[in-house]
Amino acid sequence: MKKLYEIARKNIKNAYAPYSKFRVSAALKLKNGEVYKGVNVENAAYGLCNCAERSALFAAYSNGVRKDDIDSLLVYTDKEHFVSPCGACRQVISELMPEDAKIILANNKGEFQEIINKELLPYGFTSEDL
Ligand code: THU
Repeated sequence: MKKLYEIARKNIKNAYAPYSKFRVSAALKLKNGEVYKGVNVENAAYGLCNCAERSALFAAYSNGVRKDDIDSLLVYTDKEHFVSPCGACRQVISELMPEDAKIILANNKGEFQEIINKELLPYGFTSEDL
């Protein structure tokens, strides 16, 4: 977990957050040890901002990764408090990661809080509803 933390911590410099000035960095660990990085990427049309969690997951899926390949996702902010995934990210995480995968929240003090994917979005919309 420390290695994943260091990857996310170092990569926060790539966050593109000129509007909110709130930087977030995510590191997605695969079962084979590979790591995909993501940061928040904002836009002057605010509604188009993309969160770090979705950036990391979309980068992985764009390279052929699928749900069963994924181990865990660490979400880092350079603040003293933990930042928990937004509603949109919970919806995406719930579909793209295994239901028992760990979501690890990390702050700038090197502290961690762990949540299990299925705990993040109770009563969520799924493919079963279609
Ligand atoms: N943000 C994330 O990247 N992840 C979260 O879990 C919460 C919010 C980003 C979106 C936006 O660029 C900035 O933080 C402020 O909302």
